[in-house]
Amino acid sequence: MCGIIGYCGVRTAKPILLDGLKRLEYRGYDSAGLVVVDGKKLNLVRAVGKVSDLEKKGIARPQPGHCGIAHTRWATHGRPSEENAHPHCDCGGKIAIAHNGIIENYLDLKEELLARKHEFRSETDSEVIAHLIEEYYDGDLEKAVLKTVQRLEGTFGIAVVHADSEDQVVMVKRGSPIIIGIGEGEYFAASDANALLPYTQKIISLNDDELAVLHPGGYHIKNLNNEFLQKQIEIRQDRDELADKKGFEHFMLKEIFEQPEAIENAFRGRIVEGEGVSKLGGLEPVMERLKSVKKLVIVSCGTSYYAGLCGRYIFESLCDLHVEVEMASEFRYRRLKLDGDTAVLALSQSGETADTIAAIREAKRKGALILGVVNVVGSAIAQITDAGVYNHAGPEFGVASTKIYTSQLVVLTLMALLIGRYRGLSFTEGSAVIQAVKKLPRQVKKILTDIEHIKKVAQEYSRYRDFLFIGRQHNYPTAMEGALKLKEISYIHAEGYPAGEMKHGPISLIDENFPTVAIVSQDSTFDKMISNIQEIKARNGRVLAVAGEGSDRIGDVCDDVIRVPETLPILQPVLNIVPLQLFAYFIARSKGCDIDKPRNLAKSVTVE
Ligand code: AGP
Repeated sequence: MCGIIGYCGVRTAKPILLDGLKRLEYRGYDSAGLVVVDGKKLNLVRAVGKVSDLEKKGIARPQPGHCGIAHTRWATHGRPSEENAHPHCDCGGKIAIAHNGIIENYLDLKEELLARKHEFRSETDSEVIAHLIEEYYDGDLEKAVLKTVQRLEGTFGIAVVHADSEDQVVMVKRGSPIIIGIGEGEYFAASDANALLPYTQKIISLNDDELAVLHPGGYHIKNLNNEFLQKQIEIRQDRDELADKKGFEHFMLKEIFEQPEAIENAFRGRIVEGEGVSKLGGLEPVMERLKSVKKLVIVSCGTSYYAGLCGRYIFESLCDLHVEVEMASEFRYRRLKLDGDTAVLALSQSGETADTIAAIREAKRKGALILGVVNVVGSAIAQITDAGVYNHAGPEFGVASTKIYTSQLVVLTLMALLIGRYRGLSFTEGSAVIQAVKKLPRQVKKILTDIEHIKKVAQEYSRYRDFLFIGRQHNYPTAMEGALKLKEISYIHAEGYPAGEMKHGPISLIDENFPTVAIVSQDSTFDKMISNIQEIKARNGRVLAVAGEGSDRIGDVCDDVIRVPETLPILQPVLNIVPLQLFAYFIARSKGCDIDKPRNLAKSVTVE
């Protein structure tokens, strides 16, 4: 949420800052701004809307200079407007800051600063940072930033420039990510590595409460006690995936089609066929403790939460383990019994989600073992968990998560298999899971070949303004995730429900204008699902089924059917969600929605 980029070096800063902003835009995109230090002056441009709007506005405005910072915003305090866009300046117009995160005590600080005659121009929490630095500045920017940070409560990644320090960018991190990129005679700062891939592969990740200073001759890093730190430089091998969409119209579609590969990457090198078990190096340090945990609590948000709901069925079925799934944003309000016998498993694509981080901190306080399944290597959640597993699904730029979701389900299955084999799961049962996992990439590919049919169905349903998604057992989280996909990118109202709950209320919504998407598998829930569908049909509701290839009867009771291959019940969600991702995609496309950057959303949700 919000992206920051900074540059200091031999080249003209502006084109690099703009390019970096475009690469970070998936983090937030309601307004953007950039400032370049130019001959003891700050040259600032801000615009409402996308980075392309900022670019257009900046064309008429020459901004030479070799040092600057830029920001793309997801509004928290104050609507998207030019005044609320970052960078924000102090009263003297000499200091500019870009901030990602939330300053929780900004009202107190603002009151204090107003009393000292500071003039505020925005409604943001962030602007207090610029004014505080101004208060503390006595010719040494780094010192003023250090003093300012001592006063801030909340989370932040901050980049600062000063007109009088033409060759200096100061950054500081607490909670929101900041990395440094090291080039030849040039240095970069960014919220994530995607912004820097064309420029350098040498990256340093700042930890919380670390400050970095960039200047053309080098950089240094300190802690908040003003002590110098030596930090390791990582060499990142990531491909520059943002460079092109490989012929796909949207990143979301590209990522849907990358699922066979992402699933394969999730299990490659992680199964031991001869023993009917998985091998997860990241869990080895805690394996002894994990074998004997009595309870597993999965915490996550949004799509990752629905992966967690699927995970409950997977763990219960393979591990004989008591599993609870909690929305991370509600976790701290529960009086859950967490102790050394509990493992808390955080699921997060970005590894940055503030609610999930807060839940982990709460669980740590109570002594639980903390595990993570994270896609972004080295992200905050990866760093604060005791052990974990990476998805290795490659970057996901579409704000609506697709390939990470299916990859999470596969990783959860491998974790459950590993633990289950210590808790009574037989070799034969373990082997059956492995064989089913190995088939998934081929089965997903098969669904993807049905794209024209799915597109046609989506077009027929695109005239409706409300949808109900229903499923039972493993298919219940799929109903929730299918509905979420549709809402996120097409702005159509959709509700996901366990099918059995329908008669307890939502059925009152059903009429000829309120269609239902029913996710049906040929398993123990099949007959009950057919009854629920009949109940909808009896009330003139149109029903689209996502159903297994083998379920003949479904065609007789539903109006439309999308077929999917069949697998073990615990893995069926991996296949069932794929046509629903495409269904949402084609409806959003027919409405002309901005699919990769849906309104009001952002890829990494770094505020609570
Ligand atoms: C998914 O389509 C959403 N954009 C959103 O629900 C997301 O899954 C949620 O914010 C959690 O993010 P995380 O996996 O990065 O923690």
